[in-house]
Amino acid sequence: MAVFLAIESSCDETAVAILRGEPGGAAEVLSSEVASQIEEHREHGGVVPEVASRSHSLNLNSLVEKALATAGIGMGSVDVFGATMGPGLASSLLVGSTAAKAMSCVSGKPFVGVNHMEGHLLSPFMDRTAVPKHVGLIVSGGHTLLMNVRAAGDYKQLGSTRDDAAGEAFDKVGKMLGLPYPGGPEIEKVAKDGDARAYDFPRSMMQGGELDFSFSGLKTAVLYTLQKDPNAKVADVAASFQAAVVDVLVEKTMRAAKLVRAEVIGLSGGVSLNRAVREAFSSRCEKEGIELAVAKPGVCTDNAAMIGFAGLLRFFAGKCDALDGDIDPNLRL
Ligand code: KG4
Ligand code: ZN
Repeated sequence: MAVFLAIESSCDETAVAILRGEPGGAAEVLSSEVASQIEEHREHGGVVPEVASRSHSLNLNSLVEKALATAGIGMGSVDVFGATMGPGLASSLLVGSTAAKAMSCVSGKPFVGVNHMEGHLLSPFMDRTAVPKHVGLIVSGGHTLLMNVRAAGDYKQLGSTRDDAAGEAFDKVGKMLGLPYPGGPEIEKVAKDGDARAYDFPRSMMQGGELDFSFSGLKTAVLYTLQKDPNAKVADVAASFQAAVVDVLVEKTMRAAKLVRAEVIGLSGGVSLNRAVREAFSSRCEKEGIELAVAKPGVCTDNAAMIGFAGLLRFFAGKCDALDGDIDPNLRL
């Protein structure tokens, strides 16, 4: 049995979580606190790195105290400390990782560095006793990754985006439509009243067995549509754009699952909150006889519970890290 305190600070959410787990058992999330900076960045229309790192350092101490209080434990009960080491913004990663290392140093307890993408990837399986063999699709603001997961810690990349991430495309199209940042949830909201067949936006790189993604052509198509028709109905454009993204995500993930004969698909990251995405995956998986595991709503956007879960698995696999290890803004899975 081990109690793990995890810190996530790779982008614009400061997060602390405490988990309890044992090898081969399901992890229990005792607390998961997130301080979102969305309001601070909204006026700039995107994340400002210096604002983000300052906010992380201002929020972190009180968030650690809050997480301990919610979990009902004292700092002395923590057995392992962990933090996200990358990928992400260097100045943001440094705040969380340095804090976790300092707590590890002072307490003499081990430290585990965690890859943010591994946190997302394993997040659909947090309530299980083992991570099954599966194909994982991570759709977040910074990444669109299709992974062959043979077991926890054994990954092979099958596809990724050649340009924008899916969430980034949502955010940029949201901006074009005059919607507040972040665009993803706003597009979902307005798309409910729109006609998804109003515009036939491109579904890129669908030929052959291609597993990479590209969303820049779709983004440009939306831009041209708005330039040509400034009075286009926002709801119709949003619904048609969302439908194009959904089609590509579902098609490529099913293609990947067939290629590696996966019987389970895992869906994670902020875009997996989207109802149209969830429903399309769910009906297609049901049709193809594939089990779908979607991250719970509380662990789709950035959070520390998923970092704690990936960290616990690493800890139980004997993978602790030295305190002089560096962060890596471009860390790969
Ligand atoms: O996983 P996350 O926190 O990002 C990174 O780690 O990069 O997810 C944030 C992204 C943003 O791009 C946001 O617009 C998108 O997830 N997002 C959504 C929805 N909720 C969040 N996209 C589409 N529909 C949503 N409901
Ligand atoms: Zn993320």
